[in-house]
Amino acid sequence: MSRVTLSRYLIEQTRSHNTPADLRFLIEVVARACKAISHQVSKGALGGVLGSMETENVQGEVQKKLDVLSNEILLEANEWGGHLAGMASEEMDNAYQIPGRYPKGAYLLVFDPLDGSSNIDVNVSVGTIFSVLRCPERNGENGDLGEDAFLQPGTRQVAAGYAIYGPQTMLMLTLGNGVKGFTLDRELGSFVLTHDNIKVPETTQEFAINMSNQRHWEPPVTRYVEELLAGKTGPLGKDYNMRWVAAMVADVHRILTRGGLFMYPRDSREPEKPGKLRLMYEANPMSFIIEQAGGASTNGVQRILDIQPTSLHQRVAVFLGSKEEVERVTAYHQN
Ligand code: F6P
Ligand code: MN
Repeated sequence: MSRVTLSRYLIEQTRSHNTPADLRFLIEVVARACKAISHQVSKGALGGVLGSMETENVQGEVQKKLDVLSNEILLEANEWGGHLAGMASEEMDNAYQIPGRYPKGAYLLVFDPLDGSSNIDVNVSVGTIFSVLRCPERNGENGDLGEDAFLQPGTRQVAAGYAIYGPQTMLMLTLGNGVKGFTLDRELGSFVLTHDNIKVPETTQEFAINMSNQRHWEPPVTRYVEELLAGKTGPLGKDYNMRWVAAMVADVHRILTRGGLFMYPRDSREPEKPGKLRLMYEANPMSFIIEQAGGASTNGVQRILDIQPTSLHQRVAVFLGSKEEVERVTAYHQN
């Protein structure tokens, strides 16, 4: 059987699902940028890319050199092609304007250029997460594109994906009709379809949460995790295993591969912020992918994809993965 590259997959999507040519181009450009980021990440100490900058991002997190480099790679790759009306990133306070010398296009690209960046210096998996929206008509036509153009619920995403830089570099992608996984062939420099029709098992015995925050959780989460830990003789009647990579990309990738439940609940450390993860470039794209693979995703109260965003960098509680457990922990919030 001949190998299906990302390019071929996208062309076939145009034939079978009318994927527009400019969206196809956008995905190819993002994939190319992810290859460049993968290359930089893999150099490590030899490339002088480890360690931190002296700057903080809008979230007040110290930026790693690779956070900044990955952000620049994505901006440069995407600004000139005429497929975008604007970009937004975890590493930039405001929307990025397409320079006036380039044409503008129909889409908005939102990304976390290097997710899990505390893993960089210890040589553990990191990744890039991205979400594609349509730009509302006329927004930014005469002058700058405003933040409000981006504030669309996750149901409006036309594509989402992530690249994981682990033992292999993989690109996981949804265009709204299932999830496909591509593995980077480093010799040929192309992403090859290796994981067709990805499905998250409905039931699971594995969960992921940062237990060190336990004392800050809300009662429904405390109750649920106590029940998970109680195992076979507890109310859930089975033993559970726990994993925490501390890179959402890697934890979600494991769940897409073999099932599980990922939780980053709201906690009382910073009461004005509902959780740690960001809605626009972490929770929304990952929720789109997980739902497309048959899983579920909520903030404990409602489906994440239905949330109407109010700001670019807003945070959200996240419960995503195997349906049965997402539904259980969501029901506990309703009690
Ligand atoms: O981007 C935020 C992030 O790094 C996620 O990738 C990851 O799931 C989480 O934070 C890790 O949080 P903590 O530092 O609490 O383990
Ligand atoms: Mn992140």
